Amino acid sequence: MNWRIKPLDLILATAEKKSLKRQLGAWDLTMLGIGAVIGTGIFVLTSVAAQKAGPGMMWSFVIAAGVCLLTALIYAEIASMVPVSGSAYTYSYAVLGEMVAWVVGWALMVEYAVAAGAVAVGWSGYINGFLHSIGWGLPTALTAGPADTVTLPDGTTVAGGFNLLACLLSLLLMGLLILGTSHSAKVTAVLVVVKILALTAFIAIAVPAVNHANFEPMMPNGWGTPLSGVGVIGAAASIFFAYVGFDAVSTAAEETRDPQRNIPIGLIGSLVVCTLFYLLVAYGAAGAVGAQPDGALAASKEPLAFVLRELGWPNMGNWVAAAAIIALPSVVLIMIYGQTRILFTMSRDGLLPDVLSKVHPRFQTPHVVTMFTGVAVALFSAMFPVGMLADISNSGTLFAFFAVSIGVMVLRVREPHRRRQFRTPMLWLVGPLAMIGCVVLFFSLGAYTVKLFCIWALIGLVTYALYGYRRSHLGRTSPE
Ligand code: ALA
Repeated sequence: MNWRIKPLDLILATAEKKSLKRQLGAWDLTMLGIGAVIGTGIFVLTSVAAQKAGPGMMWSFVIAAGVCLLTALIYAEIASMVPVSGSAYTYSYAVLGEMVAWVVGWALMVEYAVAAGAVAVGWSGYINGFLHSIGWGLPTALTAGPADTVTLPDGTTVAGGFNLLACLLSLLLMGLLILGTSHSAKVTAVLVVVKILALTAFIAIAVPAVNHANFEPMMPNGWGTPLSGVGVIGAAASIFFAYVGFDAVSTAAEETRDPQRNIPIGLIGSLVVCTLFYLLVAYGAAGAVGAQPDGALAASKEPLAFVLRELGWPNMGNWVAAAAIIALPSVVLIMIYGQTRILFTMSRDGLLPDVLSKVHPRFQTPHVVTMFTGVAVALFSAMFPVGMLADISNSGTLFAFFAVSIGVMVLRVREPHRRRQFRTPMLWLVGPLAMIGCVVLFFSLGAYTVKLFCIWALIGLVTYALYGYRRSHLGRTSPE
């Protein structure tokens, strides 16, 4: 068993040695958070939630938000103490030791890169629908991956071949990230405004149209049982994807000015804003047109646009669809960004090959790791369906959140006097509740996803034993 722990002071010193430019403030971080959070989850997966839970999906949104809010409170404490790249990975290294850190980093590869792929696929659904409507549609085989299906106008379902546009989008964003963070952050801010406007328009039309009869029966599939993947909790496990991304704020800690103050604001602020919007959207969607598992909302590939069209606002429906087409790429961008910073940090620690932490001499960005990540995301998005990618991503995220929750509690005991700019309120209640929430949602993802995650974690442990353990800088300088 290996418990090499990287002292916090050493982590902070390493970051100084090979560092990225500090240029982001509280506003940039909140925008980064909202930009990462609002995406395919609300624009596309709302229908998946309806399929699993019916109108009870409103509770699913509340449950998923609760787990994320608890975790954000915990993240804010550790992110303000350890303001360096790498998020849950770095925190685990400092508290729980190298092997746990490795597994967390390995799990985060599932979170960020697979999530980027999921959002790219969600985006491709909207753009393909648009191109089709103006007569420029791609051949069906190029609109979805081989593991996905496409429903033809006559109602028959065929397998996809290669999701061309999702793949191209991932490669394009990879190029943008290589050119520089600050350019991307500005674009992100504009796109956040587009998403907020679209959701505001949706809420303004759908909420006044709510008919309480549409909420009956409220929970046609009940609460759900572990590993079943259905019911209110099963839907919460899937819709959790809609909140994923707020932790991307903490992955930018090393590029943030005054991180002790700005990281907590960015994390909690972005999550609170998104939660309010989601609850209103879920209430409006379910109440205005109904959300039974066998109903039309549950079957729609563009549920928000569908609701507006049903309510007699077809143009507004098209505008919301357009907003999704314009804005979802920013989520893919932030997810690729988060992934590159984690791999960058793991490489800097010697756990992954050195070449991944090379910084481009002109653009000052980690170009090699960005290329590597971009190509992986392009492949995921070309092959798999959005729901599968979202669930797999959730499994990695829940694991990482669980580890961070333990880590923050351990650190309170081990280093009680270290300066904390932000202290998680009632940690001894919030921490265990966050852990329980993560475990419940993890096992509600369904047996298939849980099995995939376990296989991935095993591969990770073997890779660590064969590579990371021997190459680790920490292991070389302070062998136990
Ligand atoms: N939360 C992000 C989305 O819903 C990942 O697209």
